[in-house]
Amino acid sequence: MSLYPSSHVDESRLCSRIEAMARFGATEKGGVNRQALSAEDIQAQKEMIRWGRQLKLDASIDPAGNLFLRLKGADDSAEPVLSGSHLDSQPSGGKYDGAFGVLAAFEAVQAIQSAGIPLRRHIDIVAWMNEEGSRFAPGMAGSAAFAGSRTLDEIRQVVDAQGVSVGQALDTVMAELSELPIRPLGFPVSAYIEAHIEQGPVLERENMVIGVVTGIQGKKTYRVTVTGETAHAGTSCRAERRDALLASVAIIRALTTHMHDKEDVVKFTIGRLNIQPNAPSVVPGVAVFSIDLRHPDSKILSILGDAIPIICQAHADPCQVVVEELSSAASLVFTPSIRRCIAQAAQRLGLPQREINSAAGHDARYLNDVCATGMIFVPCHLGITHNEAESATPKDLADGARVLADVLAELAA
Ligand code: HGY
Ligand code: MN
Ligand code: MN
Repeated sequence: MSLYPSSHVDESRLCSRIEAMARFGATEKGGVNRQALSAEDIQAQKEMIRWGRQLKLDASIDPAGNLFLRLKGADDSAEPVLSGSHLDSQPSGGKYDGAFGVLAAFEAVQAIQSAGIPLRRHIDIVAWMNEEGSRFAPGMAGSAAFAGSRTLDEIRQVVDAQGVSVGQALDTVMAELSELPIRPLGFPVSAYIEAHIEQGPVLERENMVIGVVTGIQGKKTYRVTVTGETAHAGTSCRAERRDALLASVAIIRALTTHMHDKEDVVKFTIGRLNIQPNAPSVVPGVAVFSIDLRHPDSKILSILGDAIPIICQAHADPCQVVVEELSSAASLVFTPSIRRCIAQAAQRLGLPQREINSAAGHDARYLNDVCATGMIFVPCHLGITHNEAESATPKDLADGARVLADVLAELAA
């Protein structure tokens, strides 16, 4: 019996599962569009359950739609170790964002099993519901509900662009997976480890294989609704118009100017803009746009966030504007003992590593509120992500899974 399960991690097995998973919601350009609680998401979860059955892992689901596959340890009274990420994607997402973390956890568990490593604690592989927040905003809903940061009731009210609520979509998923036992929403956890592609260029540029993640930068999201008046494009005079799109353009220009910093640390994004009635010969009466604002310094993030409603009001005329803050999360630091455990595992494996802060958000944010938490990054090519061209090398992915396997075995011992 080898002391460390990493030697049982199988690169081709991991990569073929990643390719198999990418078939659910596959796009023509080689990416995935697997929206939370969609038919594709359900198919992906059923595949995880099927793979889990082959390893005799116990599958279960909680009321928020978080899926768990358990490798049993000896001590039922001990708090389990969790590892995973998310299976939902952005509309033109890559095949590694989220899926790598779930499948690396699966590969690590399979390696631990075949290495015959005795475990005191159970290890639960987890796929969190709606991390991306693309269909139902804001994201990280499943992990936030699990950690008690948001209520399931509030989350179930959120609706998508077609008016379908999380509650309706979740009830469909639960019906499709009705054979699974239901776990309570939130249970004591000993530690959580999430493997993820870096979603930035640093590791690849520096020829590093493992990123020991120090923390996650702060993030605030908003929905801005600008209301004017629809009018005829040919008969209404400019002076009388209340054009919601033009007012939005003025607001967005003012916001962009305010958020501009020469150090390029502030991350300010308008990712979604919808206008109504969205007809060529009608002056738009309503415009709704999203704001995604991020900064590693929580004080600066809060100051910039406080300026948003003020700037919106100052540039909305002659329309009205309503600014809703959807989510607000400060910068966080991961558990030092977990970071040490990851760094030591990478060192034992002779893998070049560096500490790195996460500019992207992850479910680990919420687990960090309730248990010892850490993340393992692997490089992705040129940092391309939230993009169908997202790519990573099989060796880096397998090395990430090797570090994860040794860390999980240590934490579950
Ligand atoms: O937006 C994020 O940072 C994550 O990739 N959903
Ligand atoms: Mn992700
Ligand atoms: Mn993502």
